[in-house]
Amino acid sequence: MSTLSRLHIIVIAVLGLAMSMTRCFGWGGDGHRMIGAIAQSQLNEQAAEAVKGLLGDETLAEACCWADKIRGEKEYAWVSPLHYINAPRDAKTVDLDRDGLDGQQIVSSIGKYREILKDSEKPKEERILALRLLAHFVGDIHQPLHVSYKDDKGGNMLTVTHLGTRSSMHSVWDSGFIKQHCKKMELSWETMGAALRETITPDEQRRWSQSLDPVEWANESLVLTISIYAKLPEPPKVKGADDFTESDAQHWMPTVADRLQTAGVRLGAVLNDALGSSK
Ligand code: ADE
Ligand code: ZN
Ligand code: ZN
Repeated sequence: MSTLSRLHIIVIAVLGLAMSMTRCFGWGGDGHRMIGAIAQSQLNEQAAEAVKGLLGDETLAEACCWADKIRGEKEYAWVSPLHYINAPRDAKTVDLDRDGLDGQQIVSSIGKYREILKDSEKPKEERILALRLLAHFVGDIHQPLHVSYKDDKGGNMLTVTHLGTRSSMHSVWDSGFIKQHCKKMELSWETMGAALRETITPDEQRRWSQSLDPVEWANESLVLTISIYAKLPEPPKVKGADDFTESDAQHWMPTVADRLQTAGVRLGAVLNDALGSSK
């Protein structure tokens, strides 16, 4: 084998590995951390104490990322299908009888892990796992493309160019818009998270925590997914130009911000409900 072809194989292997590692399962780490930080600020004293008792030194922001950290570990392969739910292309709402996959999707998982977290009779280890998964899935269900379509794996198979690099439409939504915004405004996840937290109005706070039914949250995401697919980027007019332009980012960033805030408020409300009264 010539040195060149060996080099080719190595390059292809490394690229393949990098691509498989970037296959996305949720908001990027920063999105999940912002959601965790917003939720933490919503907790009543009792829920905050219970979260601390379960997580110890791990912050809620970090716990929100755990389900992505263990992805790829064989022991946790069963978690992979729980990050999302898919519906038919013509559906306007999710239907658990049709889309439910015997509970192996995000909507039922949120219900399941909420119940485990609520149950103080359950072993601590089981409740820690439940808290980490719940904290992550409440975030994911607010990422519109986690309530999406099977045929392109929630936009994972749809390759686009964003900020000069090839990525998937899914990953633009998981992290691309957030990275672009943070870079432009010179924000860290902490400062962006604080800005999101500080701009939640009392009316939004009340509205968002009114329904704690994950079917409703999924339906909100599906409405957004429908509009995202209706406004898919045009093929670039200039060779090499981004499919997602600055104006796309400006169009969608308020939606991204709204979904992060909503997820944070609802995660706080769910944790107050599960852990906030003496049990
Ligand atoms: N794989 C298949 N469908 C998916 C979705 N909606 N989100 C993330 N990963 C997926
Ligand atoms: Zn995820
Ligand atoms: Zn994702």
